Amino acid sequence: MTHPSISSWRLVIGALLALGLGLAPWAHAADGARLYTQHCAACHGAEGKGGVGVPLALPDFLAQADDDYLRKTIRLGRPGRVMPAFAQLSDAEVDAVVGYLRALAPAGAKPVAVKAKPGNAARGAELYEKRCASCHGAHGEGGHGTGVTFSRPRDLPVLAPALNNPGFLKSASDDFIKTVLMRGRQGTPMSSFLKQGLQERDIDDIVAYVRGFAVQPAPAGAKLLESESAVIVRESPYDVEQTVDKLKTAFSGANLRVIRAVPYDEGVVEKGRENRKRYIVDACDFNFLNKALAVDPRVGLFLPCRVTVAEHQGKVLVLTINPKRLSAIFNNAELNELCEQMQKLYTDIIEETVL
Ligand code: HEC
Ligand code: HEC
Repeated sequence: MTHPSISSWRLVIGALLALGLGLAPWAHAADGARLYTQHCAACHGAEGKGGVGVPLALPDFLAQADDDYLRKTIRLGRPGRVMPAFAQLSDAEVDAVVGYLRALAPAGAKPVAVKAKPGNAARGAELYEKRCASCHGAHGEGGHGTGVTFSRPRDLPVLAPALNNPGFLKSASDDFIKTVLMRGRQGTPMSSFLKQGLQERDIDDIVAYVRGFAVQPAPAGAKLLESESAVIVRESPYDVEQTVDKLKTAFSGANLRVIRAVPYDEGVVEKGRENRKRYIVDACDFNFLNKALAVDPRVGLFLPCRVTVAEHQGKVLVLTINPKRLSAIFNNAELNELCEQMQKLYTDIIEETVL
């Protein structure tokens, strides 16, 4: 299986930023293939073979998932689990994407669901702990990371989805969950539990238990960080040069290594003609960077940390992107804590600078 490189992540970020800013300039006629390429391929692979997102071209998957499940999954996404919610697509566009997914299955693969019967959730809990928790987490929180090779063990071809996720539970019927457990999905670590010796009744019990995740409080993963503003900005009482010096001192004081402090247009304009009223200062905490990359390689696009010092209408401003905004763009709950830490660190450094 191939894995998305940082360059395909650039596409994802580009697309998500455009969505976040309401700039999506595409989508006229509902053309499933084109919509899939624009919105899904960066994560699920060009032909649905998988990547950061689970493979969608799997015959077993397409035989288990009905159109209703696919539509709801696209609309609701999986809050906090990287898979975005596509609220901005029209019904016709969602249908077109579903049609495209259907065409990825070999001819004739139609959804075949098994009817779920009422089960015993308490018994299901015991079975879940023995048979499912190792991959899907003790509370259904799913595998850790993003699915990119840096963030999960290499021998795991697909990251186990979160089963306690509100997006999943609202999309998946009991029949669907039961069907997945009965048949498994060939080509993934999720195998048939009938073949592993469970009885149909055991499976009904597990389904009842998994359904019960819905009444638990929403997992932390479902919450995106709220941020007041897209940037952190403070006014400096010093001139640009003094402010840059104070900023460098503040970075060092916080144990970040200053990588460079240069005029914004250095290398763009003729040497000696740079605008001395606008500087960028890049700094990095390599321990933090490595930790963050292990959680979600996409932060590599935003770190090292960059602060701009600029004179604007007679005032000297010190500003940077508010890292809490990353939380909303990346939809990765594991990143939330790191984003909060970064937000606090950046704010401290900038306040120290203008003190
Ligand atoms: C060896 C690891 C492993 C075990 C054990 C396992 N699963 Fe899975 N499961 C996965 C993976 C990986 C996927 C995603 C497969 C894919 O690519 O479609 C998955 C998919 C699923 C899905 C479909 C989720 C979705 O978003 O469509 C359900 C439901 C599910 N598993 C439930 C269970 C339950 C319940 C058990 C225990 C009876 C279990 N699994 C045991 C790894 C595992
Ligand atoms: C930013 C990456 C990303 C994008 C973009 C994305 N997905 Fe996903 N998708 C994922 C991840 C990751 C999962 C697994 C969720 C989990 O781990 O809990 C997933 C899960 C799914 C599932 C559930 C699969 C299953 O086994 O039940 C479907 C269906 C799906 N995505 C369809 C789509 C479609 C269609 C699009 C485009 C409209 C899309 N996704 C865009 C990352 C993405």
